[in-house]
Amino acid sequence: MTARQLLEAARQARQHARCGYSGFAVGAALLSNEGLIYSGCNIENASYGLTVCAERVALLKALSEGVSQFQRIAIVTASDKPTPPCGPCRQLLWEYAGDIDVLLGNLKKQTASYRLSKLFPIPFEASFIK
Ligand code: THU
Repeated sequence: MTARQLLEAARQARQHARCGYSGFAVGAALLSNEGLIYSGCNIENASYGLTVCAERVALLKALSEGVSQFQRIAIVTASDKPTPPCGPCRQLLWEYAGDIDVLLGNLKKQTASYRLSKLFPIPFEASFIK
């Protein structure tokens, strides 16, 4: 599975975004260690606050199917600069996916790549509350 293929899966997932309130469509594609893709798009709601980000949709789909080992996630938006994941998504990805590669892309095929630990360097995590 190449980076390009994973970005393409995120671009396709983005087409299903339910983003009628913000108009900002996001697609994500999370690659499991077994090589399967769990995709997601952002899903907004009239309450606004119940919005779920694309990354979390992808992660929760995978976790709910018993998948818990991941290699990387691709995120695609139509922004000028590739869009990084929001803080709450970083928190959840860190806890459930670990230090994965985060690939960012836009519709102009510009890309960027980071380890999650670079985007989320001093995490609050389970070890603090044990
Ligand atoms: N959004 C995501 O899907 N992922 C992020 O990491 C940032 C924000 C969505 C939430 C909302 O539907 C829209 O983008 C605008 O914030």
